[in-house]
Amino acid sequence: MHWKHKDLIDIDQLTHEEIATVFTVADRFMEVSSRPVKKVPVLKGKSLVLFFAEPSTRTKTSFDIAGKRLSADTFSLTKTGSSLQKGETLKDTALTLQAMSPDAIVLRHQASGAASFLARRLNCSVINAGDGRHAHPTQALLDAFTLRQAWGEAFQGKTVLILGDIAHSRVARSNIRLLTMLGVKIHLCSPRTLLPSGVHTWPVTVFNDLTSACKGVDAIMCLRLQLERQKAGLLPNLREYAMNFGLQPAHLEKAAQNVRIMHPGPMNRGVEISSSLADAGSSLVLDQVASGVAVRMAILYLYLTRESALV
Ligand code: CP
Repeated sequence: MHWKHKDLIDIDQLTHEEIATVFTVADRFMEVSSRPVKKVPVLKGKSLVLFFAEPSTRTKTSFDIAGKRLSADTFSLTKTGSSLQKGETLKDTALTLQAMSPDAIVLRHQASGAASFLARRLNCSVINAGDGRHAHPTQALLDAFTLRQAWGEAFQGKTVLILGDIAHSRVARSNIRLLTMLGVKIHLCSPRTLLPSGVHTWPVTVFNDLTSACKGVDAIMCLRLQLERQKAGLLPNLREYAMNFGLQPAHLEKAAQNVRIMHPGPMNRGVEISSSLADAGSSLVLDQVASGVAVRMAILYLYLTRESALV
């Protein structure tokens, strides 16, 4: 079967069936990561550039590990180590990279729309690893894959609370697109100053009080306060934010019995989440990281081979 997409920019490019294919392929690659020798030759001869113009621990490392586990050659470029520092434009950097004939560029960039801008200009695949506040599709896929491991296929009727800095969060936007497609109801909880304009048109229920927002939810996804993207004056101070919007064990009393705690990372312990919840048995934070490798292996396999069935 043919995988029809050249680029992954956001979740809304994918059908329900294609998302199921990503999960099925990721299941197979989860098994590869549990073997003593964690390598298969499916992308032998393919090359992958990891072009990260913003910092990253999880996404960059997991794409690198994913590529290597599939036997692709991976090359890394960061803003500080590249000629972006000398004023070269994103377009010229990308055309320069393309002239070296990679099969895919995985791009993280501070500008919303950067991945789409490159995808329109390059022949190789472009995989969006986070662009500004717009989208982080592989994060949403790995989050849903992690929930699928916890819940099975039964997403319909579940409720997920996304808590924190929604305005600046590409993770929230991609997760809302994906989880609503899968039949999940979304609660959002945030100070009014950290809600995006136009949120009233989104398919979500907005709360300003954390205790009410937690009522009946099956999972809570805490988000990092993105201080680097915020204008001054959005928050009184971190202490007050933590008191009103930091997730504490007491908030879980009215949540569903098996409520799961998630965070895409990096976490600010004691700000958006208490340390005890980050490390609790109900926390899926490290499962999300493990899922990230398998889901990114699946994405690389699908986009670089353009086959949707594993041989
Ligand atoms: N979740 C996420 O994108 O983390 P990194 O910024 O460490 O890649």
